[in-house]
Amino acid sequence: MPNNEFGDFQTPLVLARQCLSLLGLPGDARILEPTCGTGAFLEASAALSPGSERQGLELHPEYAERASRWARVEVADIFRTRLTDLFSWTTDGPLFVVGNPPWVTSAELNRMKSSNLPAKANIKGVRGIDAVLGSSNFDVCEYIITKVLTEYRSEPFTLGMLCKTQVVRNVMELAASTRMPLAGGDVYRINSKKWFGAGVDACWFVVRVDPSRPADYTARIHDDVFAPEESAGNRFGVVDGRLVSDVDRYRGVRVADGLSPYEWRSGMKHDASSVFELTATPAPATRNGVVLDLEPEFVHPFLKSTDVFRGRHRDLTKWVIVPQKTFGAETDSLEFSAPALWKYLNAHGTTLDGRRSSIYRNRPRFTVFGHGDYTYAPYKVAVSGLHKKPVFRLVAPLNNQPVVLDDTCYFLPFLDGVEAAVVTAVLNSRPCIDLIESLVFWDSKRPITKKLLSRIDLNQLPYDAELVRESAVEHAAAAAVPFDEALVRRRVEAAQFGS
Ligand SMILES: C[S@@+](CC[C@H](N)C(=O)[O-])C[C@H]1O[C@@H](n2cnc3c(N)ncnc32)[C@H](O)[C@@H]1O
Repeated sequence: MPNNEFGDFQTPLVLARQCLSLLGLPGDARILEPTCGTGAFLEASAALSPGSERQGLELHPEYAERASRWARVEVADIFRTRLTDLFSWTTDGPLFVVGNPPWVTSAELNRMKSSNLPAKANIKGVRGIDAVLGSSNFDVCEYIITKVLTEYRSEPFTLGMLCKTQVVRNVMELAASTRMPLAGGDVYRINSKKWFGAGVDACWFVVRVDPSRPADYTARIHDDVFAPEESAGNRFGVVDGRLVSDVDRYRGVRVADGLSPYEWRSGMKHDASSVFELTATPAPATRNGVVLDLEPEFVHPFLKSTDVFRGRHRDLTKWVIVPQKTFGAETDSLEFSAPALWKYLNAHGTTLDGRRSSIYRNRPRFTVFGHGDYTYAPYKVAVSGLHKKPVFRLVAPLNNQPVVLDDTCYFLPFLDGVEAAVVTAVLNSRPCIDLIESLVFWDSKRPITKKLLSRIDLNQLPYDAELVRESAVEHAAAAAVPFDEALVRRRVEAAQFGS
């Protein structure tokens, strides 16, 4: 959504009509549209269900005036209004709360110095709403949906709202944790670029609220709001208190959704690639081709997530400078212990001192982040955090040195190459990929996260030991790990990871 403190992007009538047509509005529906703007949803519902009772709420009087052609419209501020107090009805048909609330986030509003935000003090103690407002950056749309679900939770109704897909996930998680009486829903993706000129993943979110039915916090995804049946896909949502992206796929592997027996690490962050990253010629050289003669203990073979994803983890193409062994370690002594490096870093002092991230503030000069003993483990099982497919690689030393990974990778460090090969095979096994695929949301910026990986309990994965053994042997051989087949077999059979 473009920057706008009121999230003022009126829904095209064609879209509003299509969205509402999926609700099967009965002739006696009661329809409420909070933040109704000029009333696209009210106009469309008047056409689809002429006998319905319709009401709206809007902040701007001139919009409310236009929307009042289709409904009774109150001029009010949704952040300072309790909907169930403001609206009363003359009919008693099924209730639908629909619309397109502003998609703006609280951080964007703060930047605009806008006060069009809910006042925290008013809602203290209301579970759910409290949780949304407790987050340092929340989506106003998420707040409004939560508010509607909370205020109307004691009666059956259907909610239909246009929102970012991420908002639906947050709402589902929150609804499950606060036990809102949801009875399942549907998510229909919309082309937000076409309708609103916005480059975000967005949808028409429909959810039924019904205190008399068993709670269901899942929703089926449909890829196209204009072809709902043809584009119907899997269901996602909260199962046993955990958010999953594919409920059916999850069922077969949920036993392994637990705790990783190993600690996942993310790669190193330095925020100055022009200085820290060097090209392998094979000797370390700057981007301009100047070969550097730096103290070798501070220069390591380096891989980025694309190298890992594309299987270029056996090629030495880059080096990285790591001026400290642990995070925050002093760097002054480099002047004596590594004079060539000291000279090089000082020559680029302005760039390094200008790094903006607060993690470098009040730290020794030339600090890098996200490294420790694990950085120097000879073997690593690595995965890219950015790519849209889980592929695990066994990373072995290059040039007889441990390989350093960048901060777009996640990895497990190992001293033992055979153990690393077996873990690589287990992570690439069908049940593990099924588990990941049932947890991951590929439309996220960084779909594979440390949090997700930490949920994989390798000791519970129902993999085929023979297939894993064969695959471990291939990984070990490809990475030139010294191994013997009997040892691999024993490792797979013992399969007690992390102990
Ligand atoms: C994304 S537009 C959608 C309008 C309409 N629902 C539609 O679908 O065409 C959001 C609307 O919310 C209204 N709005 C923003 N802040 C509001 C507030 N605090 N109270 C009530 N309405 C508000 C804006 O004026 C705008 O008309």
